[in-house]
Amino acid sequence: MVAGRFQGAAVAIAVAAVCYASCAMAQQEDPYTPVVLRNKNGVQADILPIGAIIHRLLVPDKNGQADDIVLGFDDPKTYQLGNSPYFGGIVGRVANRIANGTFTLDGQTYTTDKNDRGNTLHGGFNPFFENNTWTIQDASDNEVTLSLLSPDGTQGFPGNLNATATYSLSDDNTLQLVIEATTDKTTPVNLAQHSYFNLNGNCRNNILSHVLYINGLYVTPTDVNQIPNGELAAVQGSPFDFTTPRPIGERIGAVTFPPPFGGYDHNWALFGLGTDAAAKTYIGVVSEEPQLAASVYSPLSGRAMDLSTNAPGLQFYAGNNLNGSLAGKGAYMYPQHGGFAMESQVWPDYLHHPNFPQSILQPGQLYRHIWTLKFYNHSAAPAPSGSVQTRSLP
Ligand SMILES: *[C@@H]1O[C@H](CO)[C@@H](O)[C@H](O)[C@H]1NC(C)=O
Ligand SMILES: *[C@@H]1O[C@H](CO)[C@@H](O)[C@H](O)[C@H]1NC(C)=O
Ligand SMILES: *[C@@H]1O[C@H](CO)[C@@H](O)[C@H](O)[C@H]1NC(C)=O
Ligand SMILES: *[C@@H]1O[C@H](CO)[C@@H](O)[C@H](O)[C@H]1NC(C)=O
Ligand SMILES: *[C@@H]1O[C@H](CO)[C@@H](O)[C@H](O)[C@H]1NC(C)=O
Repeated sequence: MVAGRFQGAAVAIAVAAVCYASCAMAQQEDPYTPVVLRNKNGVQADILPIGAIIHRLLVPDKNGQADDIVLGFDDPKTYQLGNSPYFGGIVGRVANRIANGTFTLDGQTYTTDKNDRGNTLHGGFNPFFENNTWTIQDASDNEVTLSLLSPDGTQGFPGNLNATATYSLSDDNTLQLVIEATTDKTTPVNLAQHSYFNLNGNCRNNILSHVLYINGLYVTPTDVNQIPNGELAAVQGSPFDFTTPRPIGERIGAVTFPPPFGGYDHNWALFGLGTDAAAKTYIGVVSEEPQLAASVYSPLSGRAMDLSTNAPGLQFYAGNNLNGSLAGKGAYMYPQHGGFAMESQVWPDYLHHPNFPQSILQPGQLYRHIWTLKFYNHSAAPAPSGSVQTRSLP
């Protein structure tokens, strides 16, 4: 087993050999019944056909107590009512923002939904990838593959886009998502997983005491509407510097932008990428294999999680806009900072910034984004400090 970043010593895992039969293929007609993936350590992921949403994610804490660590709703139908802040699902076709809801490709101008202060956010209205029923292609006790065809013109984007999402859960407590897509016309693609986590379990308290590491040296500054200005700002010495693990809440008060709440909702350039990023990516990825992008642990529960990806960016969102008005699981009113999202993706508004990594898919090419979570117990040993781990890029 590969050691987690916050793991000082090997951790013994109690093994309970239990097998569960999956009836996923028979569930085809019911998009609200999850496919349940389980491993031998009591980790469980419930995946819904609507939106390919991670509906529940049970992970044992330092005492072996399994709790649900993702935000969401008890009734899966609630995800579609229009007030979910993208809980759990896959967003697209182009995650994050497109300035003014317009872009030009091969000399042709396209118009997308202006669903966020005059700009496009996560594809547009009716978040297509989150609010539609994916077809279960294949399912077993530890893996499910879902597919979705996004027809030519959906949300204003060109081309029929075929997407597949494969979630697999292994006995080393790794939940991996591989998102693939093909097209029949040149089109931008940036599909991202938008789960909110709270490693305290059962979405208790907020996430401000969670300790965070991010493997990135720059963020991409934005205007008030969160449209990047095209520059890269070094994180060193700023509240955005998580190259040494720090509590999320330690300096969040100093992040007063974006208005009105401030707090982290920013894109980090991963893996030492900087102004040279565009030259080092291919259809939105930096490598075939995922690399460590971020780690986080809860001192309360001891749960720790490593996120690895092959995407060039990480939108880290600290749940700034949650405000206690939204009733989630167990009728719990999610408070501000009640969860955080770690959306690996291509950088925001890349379609207007040629110096940013690009993700334009051509017919015959394959888009392949990997988002991998590894769960383990944070050990008492001090977390390794510091340096950014950069692997050689293609
Ligand atoms: C953490 O440790 C407990 C006690 O040994 C164990 O039951 C649990 O499975 C571990 N959790 C993870 C995520 O490894
Ligand atoms: C979006 O519109 C604003 C206001 O008209 C303009 O200043 C800005 O340059 C536009 N951005 C892009 C990327 O077209
Ligand atoms: C999601 O889809 C449902 C049913 O297809 C529809 O009633 C609902 O308005 C959609 N939700 C959003 C947020 O677009
Ligand atoms: C998308 O899937 C459909 C149905 O399986 C298939 O007919 C079509 O050729 C696929 N298109 C692309 C671009 O992969
Ligand atoms: C809380 O957030 C919701 C959803 O964004 C919003 O509609 C509501 O007005 C907010 N309430 C307060 C008191 O700010």
